[in-house]
Amino acid sequence: MHPYPFELRNLNWNINDTDKGDLMESIQLQASVNGLKGEIEIPGDKSISHRSVMFGSIAKGITRVTNFLPGDDCLSTISCFRKLGVKIEENQDELIIHGNGFEGLQEPNEILDVGNSGTTIRLLLGILAGRPFFSSLVGDHSIGKRPMTRVTEPLKTMGAQIDGRKNGAYTPISIRGGHLNPIHYQLPVASAQVKSALILAGLQAEGESTIIETAETRDHTERMIRKFGGVVETNNRVITVKGGQTLEASDIHVPGDISSAAFFLVAGAIVPKSEILLKNVGLNPTRTGIIEVMQKMGADLEISLHDDDSFEPTGDITIRTSNLRGTVIEGDLIPRLIDEIPIIALLATQAEGKTVIKDAEELKVKETNRIDTVVVELTKLGAKIEATDDGMIITGGSTLHGGTVSSHGDHRIGMMLAIAALLCNDTVTLENPSAIAVSYPNFFTHLNDLK
Ligand code: S3P
Repeated sequence: MHPYPFELRNLNWNINDTDKGDLMESIQLQASVNGLKGEIEIPGDKSISHRSVMFGSIAKGITRVTNFLPGDDCLSTISCFRKLGVKIEENQDELIIHGNGFEGLQEPNEILDVGNSGTTIRLLLGILAGRPFFSSLVGDHSIGKRPMTRVTEPLKTMGAQIDGRKNGAYTPISIRGGHLNPIHYQLPVASAQVKSALILAGLQAEGESTIIETAETRDHTERMIRKFGGVVETNNRVITVKGGQTLEASDIHVPGDISSAAFFLVAGAIVPKSEILLKNVGLNPTRTGIIEVMQKMGADLEISLHDDDSFEPTGDITIRTSNLRGTVIEGDLIPRLIDEIPIIALLATQAEGKTVIKDAEELKVKETNRIDTVVVELTKLGAKIEATDDGMIITGGSTLHGGTVSSHGDHRIGMMLAIAALLCNDTVTLENPSAIAVSYPNFFTHLNDLK
């Protein structure tokens, strides 16, 4: 028996000049699992890591960030803020950001490249909307297909000059910011990125802005404003923020990312004879939808909350092999687990009965169309899963087999397929696994640490 869950073979790098912009690299995963056992220190939260760089840059003074996620997306955020004139030092175990307030940002000489990161471009547009200079933003092939109108339209209403492909709907996007009027705006979609962009613009507007959410989304921006000494009021999905605030530097310890922990929560639940301890997982209630769903499905899961005064709640989670039943996932729960739906779909293939996921149209505008990519790729491995207009229906109890699958350049699809491979007797060839580095660069190391 091989001592590790995976034997990793044939790491091929065939870089083709495809117009998809994808790396045609592939990895062969041959599972050899006799229960996943051990503990994993969950890497820093992606959403909070982005915001720590942004807030450190727009605050006054020195912000030290520990447990920062060195994933490709967060490195794109660092690179953009450096081009905006912010000094950011990367040490072994901390990031040191020398912020000079909103006014300290300078017109970039170079194009701001956000890579694959939707959070970087949307929040950055909110910050740049109030800055009296010109910037030009691009991203990768996936970013070029993701809708930006949801941020560019309200920011134009506030007074920013924005243009881009299809009238500012898609990258490349140019922005010349300046004086901003406050906004009173009902968000048309449940999106923390749009909400955060408008809050960041609102912090620079003349007067008080009100943003109303359709459903509660992650509140890391609001928590971070308070951590940096600012004021933002939140009352029953209504967010109020005054312009002209000065933020003060603050040290940040980034909690582990529940969206990364999700892959091991599911692996522990579906691989026979497993018990995994996941340490330092962020447990912000706007992100814990996956835990509620797993509990409802019958997962053998224990949480031990940390008793600290951290600005974001954290805890340890133990997961054991579980007998699962299908469920319905819909409504206000969707934004609280939106990034976990690919791995929840895999979980559902191993449950008894049907799982229905609805109200999740937003999946179509993520790094890939995640309704399509999840259904196409899991079907290749033998899952019974069908796409619907706003989600998917999964019939549980499938035995998965090997095959050739692709991440489609989407980190969460890649990791979901690698976890699926743990259930397959035959080899799974995963194309473009390098996308995983977007949010979890040491994913395979952590997986192979489980014995
Ligand atoms: C994020 C918000 C979500 C999420 C994304 C990160 C954030 O996107 O899917 O991975 O950091 O604010 P939307 O706001 O588009 O729903």
